[in-house]
Amino acid sequence: MLFLDYKEVNIMVKVKLVNVTKRFGDVIAVNDISFEVKEGEFFTLLGPSGCGKTTTLRLIAGFYKPDEGEIYFDDELVNDIPPHRRNTGMVFQNYALWPHMTVFENVAYGLKIRGLPPPVIIKKVKEALELVGLRGKENRYPTQLSGGEQQRVALARALVIEPKVLLLDEPLSNLDAKLRLRMRGEIRRLQKRLGITTIYVTHDQEEALSISDRIAVMNQGRILQIGTPLEVYENPKELFVADFIGITNFLPCKVLEINEAERIMIIDLNGVKLILRDVYEKFDAGEEAICAIRPESLEVYKLDEAPRDKPSIKGKVDLVTFLGKIVRYDVETDLGMIKVDVSGGTKKGFLREGEKVAVIIDPSAVRIFSKK
Ligand SMILES: Nc1ncnc2c1ncn2[C@@H]1O[C@H](COP(=O)(O)OP(=O)(O)OP(=O)(O)O)[C@@H](O)[C@H]1O
Ligand SMILES: [Mg+2]
Repeated sequence: MLFLDYKEVNIMVKVKLVNVTKRFGDVIAVNDISFEVKEGEFFTLLGPSGCGKTTTLRLIAGFYKPDEGEIYFDDELVNDIPPHRRNTGMVFQNYALWPHMTVFENVAYGLKIRGLPPPVIIKKVKEALELVGLRGKENRYPTQLSGGEQQRVALARALVIEPKVLLLDEPLSNLDAKLRLRMRGEIRRLQKRLGITTIYVTHDQEEALSISDRIAVMNQGRILQIGTPLEVYENPKELFVADFIGITNFLPCKVLEINEAERIMIIDLNGVKLILRDVYEKFDAGEEAICAIRPESLEVYKLDEAPRDKPSIKGKVDLVTFLGKIVRYDVETDLGMIKVDVSGGTKKGFLREGEKVAVIIDPSAVRIFSKK
């Protein structure tokens, strides 16, 4: 195997951005962002269209220079180092394969411009194609390949130069749902096997949760939160993060009492009192706030069968949606529509549309956000 095992030869690098800003005229595409990607880590930039993900990747690759801030590979400042000397491998948002070149030529290109001798090039290209499962397709042109195969060529082309860092910009967005799932597993396995430090960009929260070691959630050029998939899912620090990651119910509530020393808070949810623990944010008594509750942490019962000892909100089933593993109920309440996901719903039998129900709330699953 000619390919480097990044872990074994210890060439894994860490990437660090310190207060990086990039403007295009009046647009602040990237606004004072800082993060550190560890050696061999799979780090994802997640956020809506236009939030600055591609710009951040291009800054790391060296296609753009920061207006402010520093970028480091390990302890080396790379701000003034041109792209070809940073040695990153990039898969672009639209693959950007050269249509007039065969698969072989596309993958070989980066090695040719580095002046490697032809026998080495042949060997490395073969191995790169082997790695992504494309052996035997060397002489095809991009138009003669499926979307998934083109995506693999782009990946082989990025990997063949044995980059220090792999940069992937929405590499799966052009694929159909099934292939996207398969390729994301393959990318993850390949990345773990090689141990290459990888920065991945997506606007798909499910993809980010499933593939990453850590995620940075971005909006409008800023990073709002960095954490493991579990952390950003279970403990969103801002309303935007709670909203962007997964489906969440937002319900208006009022703060009744706070005990800062014990981090306990009592809130009122349309007449229902809830005791929240481990509250770290500051609130004032009497303040109007917003509760975020995930559909899967709620339960729903027929009104006369609901447990009486738990906090609940009364309502009426408005819509029943069968989603395979789960059944989603849209329940109409005085607080607005509440979504409840019930797993194993078919075994339990469906609640009917129009049925009077009680939605049971587990206070430990409630996150509260200030309106301020
Ligand atoms: N070369 C450029 N010139 C001017 N404005 C730019 C340029 N590149 C990006 N922008 C602007 O900077 C902002 C961030 O763009 P960027 O391409 O980084 O977003 P993105 O998060 O990758 O979005 P998408 O998910 O749609 O690819 C946008 O407002 C965009 O219009
Ligand atoms: Mg982009």
